[in-house]
Parts: sequence; structure tokens; C-alpha cells
Amino acid sequence: MAKIISGKEVSAFVKGEAAKEVKTLNEKGISVCLAVILVGDDPASAVYVNNKKKACEVCGIKSLQYILPESTTEQELLTLIEKLNNDMEVNGILCQLPLPEHINEETVINAISPKKDVDCFHPENVGRLHIGNGTFKPCTPAGVMEMIHFAGIQVRGKKCVVVGRSNIVGKPMGALLMAEDGTVTICHSKTQNLEEYTKNADILVVAMRQPRYITGDMVKDSAVVVDVGIHRLDDGTLCGDVDFNSVEKKASYITPVPGGVGPMTIAILMQNTVTAAKMQNGLI
Ligand code: GUN
Repeated sequence: MAKIISGKEVSAFVKGEAAKEVKTLNEKGISVCLAVILVGDDPASAVYVNNKKKACEVCGIKSLQYILPESTTEQELLTLIEKLNNDMEVNGILCQLPLPEHINEETVINAISPKKDVDCFHPENVGRLHIGNGTFKPCTPAGVMEMIHFAGIQVRGKKCVVVGRSNIVGKPMGALLMAEDGTVTICHSKTQNLEEYTKNADILVVAMRQPRYITGDMVKDSAVVVDVGIHRLDDGTLCGDVDFNSVEKKASYITPVPGGVGPMTIAILMQNTVTAAKMQNGLI
């Protein structure tokens, strides 16, 4: 039976560390502020944005929320971002994705100042991440790394397989595992014989947006299995990309859904916001 790595526990630890740093900054007269923008009324996005506000409260970070209607034009959004880029009070800016179809995501990501890009989505920060001199961490992959570290798992020399190649998870996940000397394979929707790869993995990170796709027979004995997926089934229950019941019988460690990687993303966002404030105040 696998040991469970609790995202609730690890995220509480990371947020606690961030809160301590905020307190120290406040004592120096420095406040920490995150601006979050939501365009449109996607219910899942609204929940995420609300969770970010709550996490800011826990950490002592001031949060500004800009909830804009679906009809917002790209130019209106870019004007708001420019205002926030120039606002000395604002340390981090996050624009919740996905955006409505009439707004170009790449244009918006590029418009956020790289110094305030707490999502680590701007090409300058993505480039720095791959070179290995980044300041901001990609939130979800860095959250996965925190969980791996918390469980005392070494990445060096391990066969690491990432299923998914998105800009938000798969690609930066590969970069972070490589930075810790993992031997990384990235699989995706066009990979043939996926199970040939997954069966070989010492560390398997799954972000493929397919409910319960990875089953016990696709996993090596004693593998570490991290599930980034989240899906709501017709009966209302939540599940991940991993079939928890069959995989937990084979894995050495597994992350649950819910209560696994999900809470970690926001915890790293808090960490990045603190980093932004320190950077903008010449402390790093
Ligand atoms: N949508 C889903 N995940 C994310 C994220 O990490 N950041 C932003 N900005 N939007 C998202």
C-alpha cells in the first residue's frame, strides 16, 4: 500500500513559511500585494480565484480582485495590466486562464511585467527557468517538487516520466525534474504505447486531463505517482487522472485527489508573491 503525500499538509507548511516572510517584510514597512484578474464567469475559475483570496488572507498578503465581465475587450484588459504593472503597491499580477475566446492569451501573458509574473508564464521567466536562473517558480510543477521533497524522495538519477506537455504543467515539470538530475521523458496524447513509458517510471507525474486513465497495471512496483488531474464525475465526486484504488496498491507514494497537488499550486503562488515583493524592494 502506498503512503499518501498530503497536499493539505505540505501546502499548509509552505503557506506558513510565506506568512512568516510576510510578517518580517511588514516589520520593515514593506507590504505584500497580489492582484488577481478574472474575465468572464467560468464557475471553476471563480472558485480558484476565491481560493487565492483566502490563501492571501492566511499569509497576510493584501489581495486585489478585478472581476471583469465576459464582454471585456483585449484592449481594456491590457490597459488594466499596464496600470497594475506601474502600480508600486502591487507586487504580483495573475490573470486567471482560460480567457474568453476573443482575447489572445499570449498577448496578455506577454503584457504582464516579468517582475510581477507570479504565474511564471512570461517568456522571459520561462526562459530563465530552463536556463536555471529563474526567480519565480512555475506554481503547479514547483508544488509537485515540494511534495516530493516533503516525502524525502530523491530525484537524482531516477527515471521520471511526465504525462502531458502543456506550458503550465508538463513542460516546466520536466525542467524542474531535470534540474534535480532526474532522467526525464515527456509523454503526450500522440505517444504510442504510453504504458511502455509509465511502467518504467520511478517517478510518474500525470497531467493528461483524462479521468482515472492511469491504472495499476500501467505503473511500476514502488513507483512514486503524482496526480495533477482533477475532474468532477457525473455523480459529483472528484477524481484525478490516476485510478487511485488500483495504483495505491502498487505505488510506494501517491498523491490523492482532492487534497493532493491542487492546494500546492496556490501555496507556491503565495511564495512567488513574497519573492516578487522582496525583489522589488531590493532584498534579493
Ligand atoms: N488556470 C488554471 N491554472 C492556472 C494557473 O496556474 N494560473 C492561471 N493564471 N490560470 C490558471
